[in-house]
Amino acid sequence: MYRHTLRIMDDSSLSKVWLLVVCAVGLCLASTCALAAGDAGKGRSLYPVCTACHGAKGEGNAAMKAPKLAGQTGWYLKRQMELFQQGARGTAAGDMTGMQMAAMAKGPQLASDAALDDLVAYIGSFPETQQAPTIQGDAEAGATLYATCAACHGKRAEGNEAMAGPRLAGQSDWYLVAQLQKFRDGQRGYHNSDHGGRQMRAMSGTVATEAAMHNVVAYINSLTD
Ligand code: HEC
Ligand code: HEC
Repeated sequence: MYRHTLRIMDDSSLSKVWLLVVCAVGLCLASTCALAAGDAGKGRSLYPVCTACHGAKGEGNAAMKAPKLAGQTGWYLKRQMELFQQGARGTAAGDMTGMQMAAMAKGPQLASDAALDDLVAYIGSFPETQQAPTIQGDAEAGATLYATCAACHGKRAEGNEAMAGPRLAGQSDWYLVAQLQKFRDGQRGYHNSDHGGRQMRAMSGTVATEAAMHNVVAYINSLTD
């Protein structure tokens, strides 16, 4: 008797689950699914404030120490905006450039998840550009060092979302070096909620010297993913 009741309950909860699934799919189709990427057209109106530092097409600006955004994956750009917004990046003592960027990320027009998706979709429409190398290093020695990095950043430094490791190929070399210094010095990857950053901070010990940083970045300069 008891068993019988249970079975009936199972059946009815199963059909409730199905009903939910059908509704969710229906809603998704009706409202271009919440999981879908943002609207680049809307994102365009959020970008002008970024131009002074990152360039009109996200090409970066060395004088402002602002990195290239073009060619970076959307999931990573969004994650960094969230970290800046949450105070998990750009709040460490002495991190002047991080603080500048954190102030920008906290603009009220970027306070929603949808706004970030739209902005990132617009950045995703920028053409990839080549960055002139500025770092001198021993790329061969860097290749050996890079073997440790590949697990999270990809063999060709193309990035690995499952490991939260960003694309490094195509990024300005001076920016990569500056970020390695920040991880080493505890100015990135210091916050409890920044799991990826904490992992990277642990890894930065393997390239702690200026020579090692320059060598591994010289190798990354040679990669085109
Ligand atoms: C006042 C200059 C300035 C403005 C304006 C600015 N940024 Fe930045 N941004 C920076 C700097 C400098 C950094 C590098 C921070 C660091 O060294 O850690 C940065 C870093 C970033 C990063 C992290 C990239 C990475 O690879 O880690 C993202 C994403 C970003 N900016 C997006 C934006 C967007 C989107 C806007 C416009 C809403 C914007 N920024 C406006 C200066 C600026
Ligand atoms: C265990 C995984 C892991 C390994 C191994 C690893 N990284 Fe990272 N790295 C990450 C993650 C995750 C991030 C992004 C952190 C965040 O979200 O703030 C990152 C970020 C970076 C950044 C900042 C990029 C940007 O656009 O801001 C650089 C540079 C970098 N890693 C270089 C390296 C180098 C060089 C090595 C090898 C010596 C290495 N990483 C090894 C996980 C790893």
